[in-house]
Amino acid sequence: MGKNKIRRFEENLTFRHLFQQSFDELMAGFPLKGKWHKEYFGNDNPIVLELGCGKGEYTVGLAQRFPDKNFIGLDIKGSRMWVGCKQVEKSGLKNVAFIRTRISLIQHFFGKDEVSEIWLTFSDPQPRKSKEKKRLSSPQFLKRYSHFLRDDNTIHMKTDNRLLFDFTLDVIGKHGHEKGFVSFDVYGKGAPPEVMEIQTYYEEIWRKEGRMIHYLNFRMNKT
Ligand SMILES: C[S@@+](CC[C@H](N)C(=O)[O-])C[C@H]1O[C@@H](n2cnc3c(N)ncnc32)[C@H](O)[C@@H]1O
Repeated sequence: MGKNKIRRFEENLTFRHLFQQSFDELMAGFPLKGKWHKEYFGNDNPIVLELGCGKGEYTVGLAQRFPDKNFIGLDIKGSRMWVGCKQVEKSGLKNVAFIRTRISLIQHFFGKDEVSEIWLTFSDPQPRKSKEKKRLSSPQFLKRYSHFLRDDNTIHMKTDNRLLFDFTLDVIGKHGHEKGFVSFDVYGKGAPPEVMEIQTYYEEIWRKEGRMIHYLNFRMNKT
């Protein structure tokens, strides 16, 4: 492992806004589950997650734009999340946290009705049919989210990947979720400002290659 990565991992241990539990600790019960509002954020503002946040561009960018909401970025890669953690430390933002975890364990971190929105930003498309259920918008992952999402939820997806985008539209249609705004070309017209203004590390790479960026949002029907 490179020195830079080791330094980042060490510094990650010092951030009060980054949570990383061992599997055994998590199974014993995550202390903030069901208590994020009262014991971490100290307010009743809506909680918004970014799953597979990488460097946390949406977590930090949205937290700056929407001080009346709380934001939590989740990813398994600690050295990427260090970038967002460092920005939060420098800026003093109070409405942000990060969790280093596999997203398949997400239901252990949040209680019933604790979360209002989810952003899926340039998620791994898992293109092989046999890996479909590993896509973060698959029915299997949506079921995990249903344990802690409010009924009046919103799920956002931004991606360059047409296969993942079409798959998600298909899941929305087949499972009776409520489709909201859909754009196959975010920079073409009409997307909400934050969808155009905040660009992630991976988005910049794909845009330089000339790929079109897609965005959609929907409400998950939990019944
Ligand atoms: C293609 S990158 C996108 C990162 C960032 N959102 C961006 O747009 O730059 C996908 C990210 O999702 C994370 N990821 C993928 N599957 C995951 C899982 N099951 N649990 C936790 N993180 C995951 C990866 O570590 C990676 O940082």
